[in-house]
Amino acid sequence: MTRIANAALRTKIMSAEAAAGLISSGMTLGLSGFTGSGYPKAVPLALAARIEAAHAAGDPFRVRIWTGASTGPELDGALANADGIEFRLPYNSDPVAREKINRGEMEYFDMHLSQVAPMAWEGFLGPLGVAVVEVTGIRPDGSLIPSSSIGNNKTWLDRAEKVILEVNRWQSAELEGMHDIYYGTALPPNRVPIPLVKPQDRIGEAYLRCDPNKIIAIVETETPDRNLPYAPPDETANAIAGHLIEFLRHEVGKGRLPASLLPLQSGVGNITNAVLSGLLDAPFENLTAYTEVIQDGMIDLIDAGKLKLASATAFSVSPQAAEKLNAGMARYRDKMILRPQEISNHPELVRRLGCIAMNGLIEADIYGNVNSTHIMGSRIQNGIGGSGDFARNAFVSIFMTPSTAKGGAISAIVPQASHVDHITQDVQVIVTEQGLADLRGLSPKQRAKVIIANCSHPTYRPALEDYFRRALAGSYGLQSPSLLREALSWHQRFIETGRMLG
Ligand code: COA
Repeated sequence: MTRIANAALRTKIMSAEAAAGLISSGMTLGLSGFTGSGYPKAVPLALAARIEAAHAAGDPFRVRIWTGASTGPELDGALANADGIEFRLPYNSDPVAREKINRGEMEYFDMHLSQVAPMAWEGFLGPLGVAVVEVTGIRPDGSLIPSSSIGNNKTWLDRAEKVILEVNRWQSAELEGMHDIYYGTALPPNRVPIPLVKPQDRIGEAYLRCDPNKIIAIVETETPDRNLPYAPPDETANAIAGHLIEFLRHEVGKGRLPASLLPLQSGVGNITNAVLSGLLDAPFENLTAYTEVIQDGMIDLIDAGKLKLASATAFSVSPQAAEKLNAGMARYRDKMILRPQEISNHPELVRRLGCIAMNGLIEADIYGNVNSTHIMGSRIQNGIGGSGDFARNAFVSIFMTPSTAKGGAISAIVPQASHVDHITQDVQVIVTEQGLADLRGLSPKQRAKVIIANCSHPTYRPALEDYFRRALAGSYGLQSPSLLREALSWHQRFIETGRMLG
């Protein structure tokens, strides 16, 4: 049965190939999609085929793409594979696109996710040609029932000259009513406070608005989101979760956090999901989440009656959790709210609510500067995503990682980070399977001692202690002592020999 309840809009139904034919080379596309949820699945694939045919005929067809965050293989993967992406923002985790970026074949503007919509409105990113947005359905009045992510869809639908909709029957019809689209944001000097004071507040509408005259094509699909399984927590993930939960218990004991904690923000990845699983057995009740994505662990916490509400911009769940969610959406609808990412990640709201930010990292240096994005200072892994939106504004900002990578060849704790996403002032707690470093109120030298002692792997600890001791003796200044010639030598040695230490 069709999900397009507006008769006039039904006349715009066409094939994905015909819709892709309405896109020209050089255009900027505003695509829906956030961590593999709610991205268009048919038009980008058809566009990739069209681009391949154009390239075969000698036409250098390429497009510029803006999304919510990462998408799926039918979008980033297919377009990157066809060499069809000239420029991309704001976040990528697709392996094919990553390789193109690292080979210098695609320009990538990696940016804070809360800033995408405001920057699109400010205008310097250039005009937006076509929005391609997946929705769950179209109502009789032409308003749109959003899909499993909101991301930047409100902004794309408002800003784009033309709109292509994909109406995906795979998405549960019961998603209707879960969303909260706030239309009150503006540019300075007309900004006003956002009227949200609790994660459960609804401040907007359940539907997306779209001028029907801009809609040039509607494509019907029935395709699942790219849902990837989470790895079952291993010993390392469980140890990290254990240290973190012990820290939260300690903070509650000291009266610095309420017994129901503060709204949780949980970043992407298996370890953050393991922490959520760990909370199942922890003594905290009536939890809330004000975060970017709803993961499996949050659904389990809701099922266990521990988490009373999760506010996010997208689902990021395994196939099993997606099945459970879709089957029981009506039951989950009053416990979850999906919002535009400019609201889910808004610094004003993160600061007001006092979120507990929990994010992954690639490496941290002995002073607590965190690299979340670049391997050996140059190769992009994913992007900063929402980690900066939350880390700088959180009540407590926690970063976690295994203490080593690549089978022990790399230390996650290094003398100097090869790239910095989160400066030491935005990093309050670092956790590895070795232990936890509470850096609040510590000077750089005090931080170095506790990070090396509590977080580094025993294989690397003596070398870090030795570096720090020599830096204290021979540095130009003793606020954050460093040996500049040596500070990045671990990275250089890895590039040359495949190991950070000899
Ligand atoms: N040096 C080199 N490679 C490293 C590394 C290091 N110090 N640390 C991790 N890696 C590699 C891993 O080996 C792995 O590589 P593989 O895919 O080839 O196996 C990859 O980076 C991912 O690491 P993993 O240990 O699986 O961690 P993860 O899934 O928890 O991801 C981040 C860690 C930092 C990449 C991830 O959290 C991220 O992208 N963060 C930035 C965005 C963000 O925080 N978003 C959430 C905000 S709401």
